[in-house]
Amino acid sequence: MNDWAPTSWQSRPLLQQPDYPDRRALEEVVRELSALPPLVTSWEVERLKGKLAACAAGEVFLLQGGDCAESFSSCEADTITAQLKILLQMSLVLAHGTRKQVVRVGRIAGQYAKPRSAEREERKGVSLPSYRGDLVNRRAFTTADRTPDPRLLLKGYERAALTLNFIRALVEGGFADLRHPEYWNLDFVQYSRRRSDYEEIVRSIRESIEFMENVLETPVDKVRRSDIYTSHEGLLLYYEQAQTRRVPRREGYYNLATHFPWIGLRTSDPRGAHVEYFRGIRNPIAVKVGVTTTDEQLAELLEILHPDDEPGRLTLIHRMGLDGIDEHLPRLIEVVRRSGKTVLFSCDPMHGNTEIAPDGHKTRHFDRIVGELERAFAIHRQMGTILGGVHLELTGEDVTECIGGARGLGTDDLARAYETSLDPRLNYEQAMELAMILAHRLRNGDST
Ligand code: PEP
Ligand code: CO
Repeated sequence: MNDWAPTSWQSRPLLQQPDYPDRRALEEVVRELSALPPLVTSWEVERLKGKLAACAAGEVFLLQGGDCAESFSSCEADTITAQLKILLQMSLVLAHGTRKQVVRVGRIAGQYAKPRSAEREERKGVSLPSYRGDLVNRRAFTTADRTPDPRLLLKGYERAALTLNFIRALVEGGFADLRHPEYWNLDFVQYSRRRSDYEEIVRSIRESIEFMENVLETPVDKVRRSDIYTSHEGLLLYYEQAQTRRVPRREGYYNLATHFPWIGLRTSDPRGAHVEYFRGIRNPIAVKVGVTTTDEQLAELLEILHPDDEPGRLTLIHRMGLDGIDEHLPRLIEVVRRSGKTVLFSCDPMHGNTEIAPDGHKTRHFDRIVGELERAFAIHRQMGTILGGVHLELTGEDVTECIGGARGLGTDDLARAYETSLDPRLNYEQAMELAMILAHRLRNGDST
């Protein structure tokens, strides 16, 4: 790694970055951010890497989920608690289905920067920079709000720290509430045609919660703090660079802004700045692959990002869409097989299934999300590989952003509680239902 440094990405082609008008202010912020304490530790990062290695081997299952984009204004107790609750409850349902430990990773405490398809947005003849997430600029369509502001990097780091601090405190204090049936909002079960399957799952979870505690590594109400990990798309490389550190008694550099950063689909060019940055950090990393990822590109990514075939190091999150998965997943699995390397395969059934509803809202259909997941399990089974995780956009709150699910949300419902700042998320009930469908499948022979 002699030819790598936390700044070496700066000489590579760089996509999806804001154009900061005040370079000096940016440099100052990066300096300040580089001196602030880390958000996570290298031993947590290494521990997660070990768990992800177990996921790749089919011994543990990865549940990764959270907002498409966190916003600074939703850094609130209720929102964070709801997010934690949905991840924990889904993980119990999945552990029940898989009979495996589930490792939970939030898209949380740093998921503030977004890739955009257009550099600029036009409205009524006015052209301004696109909104790129709260880490970069603000949503309101004014020149002042849309001009990239480097101070938001510091604010993002602080919001991430506040979020993580609260998560650690909650987890430390124990989620005793998980034991109480009234904390599980499962009324939706009665509206589903799969009602009896779900009721059986709920009943047996309730009955076996004591047993679950023995299967899980720790009691459900004393989840160890490091048992919730953080992740975000490592998009804004000034932010990532500033949190990249050496630590005593370990080799190399760690990104200590998050446990598990990933490379988005749009920035996964093997010769680009993002891949250059990611190759040098010791964290477990993920890369999104989709229908546009070529065989050659994936082969190069495996070489560059996963040269030593270190267990747990590389996760491939495939996001093909229900229409693309049959054609494209098998060829990418073949590329991995030819490389002789081991990766963790995880399925993101969200980003390939986005559509625009007649009223203009971006949405996703629950059945297509479930459909892609089912195809993913089937294809991996046919090819003799393991689907070791899922990657979801979800919220613990009662929003109306995705359609379908037990309550049959339709396009008419979208306007009622459409709150996402970018992509549509599964709401609490849809997320729980998805976990139950997976648990039911996994329980009934569709083993991972
Ligand atoms: C995302 O995860 O929010 C995202 C932008 O995904 P992708 O890079 O797969 O398009
Ligand atoms: Co998204």
